[in-house]
Amino acid sequence: MFKFKKYLTEKQELVNNSLRNILEHFTVNNRLMKAVEFSLMAEGKRVRPVLCIAACEAVHGDIRDTLPVACALEMIHTYSLIHDDLPAMDDDDLRRGKPTCHIQFDEATAILAGDALLTLAFQILSSANILSGHNVKNHPSVWLKIINILSSASGWNGMIGGQMLDISSEDSVLNLDKLEHMHSLKTGALIEASVSAGAIIGGCNTKQLKHLSLYAKKIGLAFQVADDILNVEGDPLVMGKTAGTDAHRNKNTYPSLMGLNGSKKFAGQLICDALQALNNFDKSSDPLRKIASYIINRKK
Ligand code: IPE
Ligand code: IPE
Ligand code: MG
Ligand code: MG
Repeated sequence: MFKFKKYLTEKQELVNNSLRNILEHFTVNNRLMKAVEFSLMAEGKRVRPVLCIAACEAVHGDIRDTLPVACALEMIHTYSLIHDDLPAMDDDDLRRGKPTCHIQFDEATAILAGDALLTLAFQILSSANILSGHNVKNHPSVWLKIINILSSASGWNGMIGGQMLDISSEDSVLNLDKLEHMHSLKTGALIEASVSAGAIIGGCNTKQLKHLSLYAKKIGLAFQVADDILNVEGDPLVMGKTAGTDAHRNKNTYPSLMGLNGSKKFAGQLICDALQALNNFDKSSDPLRKIASYIINRKK
């Protein structure tokens, strides 16, 4: 039987080792790089890189080819968290069980560490062979496509667009459609990119990509619904971040609109839909199936 806990730990270690290799490649040890390392190597769940790897496996690709993308995804995600925690944004002081970057260092360093991580992601993607330690096989046009997917998902019409909606709608009440749109952008877009990029690196066909994108859309939204639920009832010690902050900042969240039970039901339905999208895939997509359940059952 497929053992998900073991799978997750192995893949998290693979990603952590690759990230460490990349940082070691740059021998610079100044304040900026210390801040980058502090946030990047803190205990994140590595969900996006693991999704990228699992999507590649689902289409029978070579997962070693995904490592530069997996690392780039984690860098973009970590940058988004550093900036999300800044006083001008969510003003949080705990992240991944440690002080947030601006508390540990200072605001200017945190802004620059985020900038450095975002740009490093694309430096890694555009020099994949040098930094992965494995001779990746794909044609340059595939890498160009991956760069396009990650940059589109991260920018104005993806994660950053969602973050803008999140910040600008504090203190007003969004309807469900608008809330779904905001969540799909701020969190869903990068999760969808993780799955699509992994599948493309793995050599998927158009039909597989369509089904995997639908799977990713559903789990991407479910991921943020689960994050909203944890913000209400999660244990800060387990989560490694403060609870109750959404209500405090008058954020639009699923629990604020649907209540806790309604939100849990909705997240469960999204996961059912996601699993259905994998109907035509064989056992190689079991990791994707398990990740879907993990996303709504996680405690951190
Ligand atoms: C938290 O992301 C922010 C959201 C987009 C909901 P994760 O829950 O993936 O955080 P880490 O990477 O494990 O710290
Ligand atoms: C974070 O969303 C989303 C991004 C960083 C893009 P939240 O602000 O809801 O996540 P947490 O709760 O701080 O991790
Ligand atoms: Mg936020
Ligand atoms: Mg936040």
